[in-house]
Amino acid sequence: MKTFRLQLRFLVPLVLILTGAAYLALPLMDRLTLRWFARDLDMRGTLVANALSDTLTDALQETRGRRLQNLFDRAVQDERLVAIGWCSTDGKVVRRTQRFPNDLGCEGAREVASAKDPQLRIEGGPVHVSFHPISGEAGPAGNLVLMHDLSFIERRSQDTRKYLLLFIAGLGAAIALATVIVAQLSWRGWVNGARALLRGEGLVRPMLPPTPELAPLAADLRQRLRDLDDEYRRVQRPDTVWSPQRLQSLLRTELRGDQVIVVSNREPYIHEHKDGKLTVRRPASGLVTAVEPVMRACSGTWIAHGSGDGDREAVDRNDRVALPPGEDAYQLRRIWLTKEQEEGYYYGFANEGLWPLCHVAHVRPVFRKGDWEHYREVNQLFADAVVAEARSEDPVVLVQDYHFALLPAMVRRKLPRATILTFWHIPWPNPESFGICPWRSEILEGMLGSTILGFHTRYHCKNFIETVDRYLEARIEHEHSTITFGGAQTLVESYPISIEWPLPEVSRDWPTPGQCRTEVFERLHIPQGHRIGVGVDRFDYTKGIFERFNAVERMLEKYPDLQGRFTFIQVAAPSREALEEYRSFQERIHRSADRINARFGRPDAPVIRLLAQHHGHEEVNKLYRAADVCMVTSLHDGMNLVCKEFVAARDDERGVLILSRFAGAAREMPEALVVNPYDVEETADALYQALTMPAGEQRERMGSLRSTVHEYNVYRWAGRMLADAARLRLRQRVSERVQRHSGEL
Ligand code: F6P
Repeated sequence: MKTFRLQLRFLVPLVLILTGAAYLALPLMDRLTLRWFARDLDMRGTLVANALSDTLTDALQETRGRRLQNLFDRAVQDERLVAIGWCSTDGKVVRRTQRFPNDLGCEGAREVASAKDPQLRIEGGPVHVSFHPISGEAGPAGNLVLMHDLSFIERRSQDTRKYLLLFIAGLGAAIALATVIVAQLSWRGWVNGARALLRGEGLVRPMLPPTPELAPLAADLRQRLRDLDDEYRRVQRPDTVWSPQRLQSLLRTELRGDQVIVVSNREPYIHEHKDGKLTVRRPASGLVTAVEPVMRACSGTWIAHGSGDGDREAVDRNDRVALPPGEDAYQLRRIWLTKEQEEGYYYGFANEGLWPLCHVAHVRPVFRKGDWEHYREVNQLFADAVVAEARSEDPVVLVQDYHFALLPAMVRRKLPRATILTFWHIPWPNPESFGICPWRSEILEGMLGSTILGFHTRYHCKNFIETVDRYLEARIEHEHSTITFGGAQTLVESYPISIEWPLPEVSRDWPTPGQCRTEVFERLHIPQGHRIGVGVDRFDYTKGIFERFNAVERMLEKYPDLQGRFTFIQVAAPSREALEEYRSFQERIHRSADRINARFGRPDAPVIRLLAQHHGHEEVNKLYRAADVCMVTSLHDGMNLVCKEFVAARDDERGVLILSRFAGAAREMPEALVVNPYDVEETADALYQALTMPAGEQRERMGSLRSTVHEYNVYRWAGRMLADAARLRLRQRVSERVQRHSGEL
């Protein structure tokens, strides 16, 4: 249909032009042919006059003039010569043939003959008039007037007109046909070309050099691409296990030692002063949990905000420190922010704006212009650091999270050949919700500087693509999940994040679940015989801690047999306390715990143990191993790694996981008791079901969950992203080489 419209757009003007041309050409043609014929007839007249001249002068001797008349009558038998007249030297018509007009005197005939268009209409049709002076031996004898038939010229002109019209019509038809064929072919070519381009192969195939000497190169390149695709498919097979070694081998082979740079706000290790000493700790961060093992595997550079009060002491003069302490597997480059920058960029725009905007957890996002300006400024600061750390023009840059929505486009401007992978660790809302952000277009444009944009789930990818569709002029290929904006293409893909597995070396030394239980009971003075539940979160309103406590309360109301026999331990790592929203949330949670404890606990045995301080991984792990049930009740969560850590900790295949259906992890872990945390009855029932679940069922569920987390570990998360990056890098290099060879660069 589109082709047809295009062709019509071309054909209609063509028909109009040809008709106009015919309209102008025909009278011109007529005039031209007439002039040519007039010249011919003049020449013919001169010939006739010359031929008759001798005979004429003889005939004029004869006084009766009979001979002259006979001569003229014979001459007009020629089909072209229709009339002849003889003018005497004194200007009188003395002899004429039958069709010579009676009223045309000699003077009249001379006038007509000397006109530009020497034509006259006589009886029988138009004639061409010529006037020829004839001389004898005695001087001028008179003038011969010849009238040649012109009607044949009219007939010929009509014929010519007919042929010309036929010719123009034929020409028009030929051009139209050629146009239709060329348009069809080139449209198909364009469509196929564009499709191939979006599949990532278009740059290669159509541009392959046609010259035979370059054919081996083309075959070589094709073979290389096929090899890579095979390898990629092999990598994708779900039954293959991802390990740090496999990730390293991917980096060595597919990325051939290319530099990997990670950018995140949160640093993997924080140096702090404690009791007069410089100490180091791992922050409570899912992002750090996931990215650190990857960095260990690829020995790259990690750029992050230096937020600890001992951070400056730990770095060298280039603001770098080798990590993890004592292992020196990768470099951390710390970026320093002013108090104003941290307030505007981190607390303000990132955590009061984007965080509630993306989580849709009933907390109003706040957008301040000053925060936005700091956000942009800090993004530029980190982007400049990426450029400064890059050892080549095409490093692999792994951008982490909502703190750096603008950075991908900033890096792309300086390093156009970089492979930028942005992973958004939090949910992406629907277009309407996102649309309230005053800088929505700038954020989307910034993110589309990425080569690959990753979310935890397909659902978040779909929301993002729909948001771009709503607010930007971009080309979206749903089939391939790509967005082309400003001439560059971004692949939008889901990569569910996870945790380390195989478990780290230290897991061999873990105390048994029994020992952990004893230790936890003793440390927290939990009465013997109690069942215990555990929750481990940052102290954040998106985690559903309030709803969780309500479910505990309701469970005790509904199932009184568990009153006095149940303790719930909530670890809540302090987070973003500079924000009023977080402070008031924490107070509210404390009040809620106090109220429930007053109702169902005893002073020496509270139902809810709220541990609102930072806990190291070892301590948390002991809680996981000691617990009967772990509750993850996020109101909205990108993935949530606590549920995966709990499963990893339970090598005894015991313990039950309660998991919010609003956490990305719920899609991968259906063997958990999946609940709607807003539904207090359902969550309370699930808690009771978990606490009374037979050991066999626990084993079945936990066994299955463990094999899922084992298979879909963090190495698969990183490996899939990096394999996609390698594929796109190879495609870019191949297309550049082919373009260079075909002289297009
Ligand atoms: O969930 C998003 C996220 O960036 C996580 O990756 C991380 O666990 C958490 O937020 C950290 O928050 P913050 O760095 O503000 O303490």
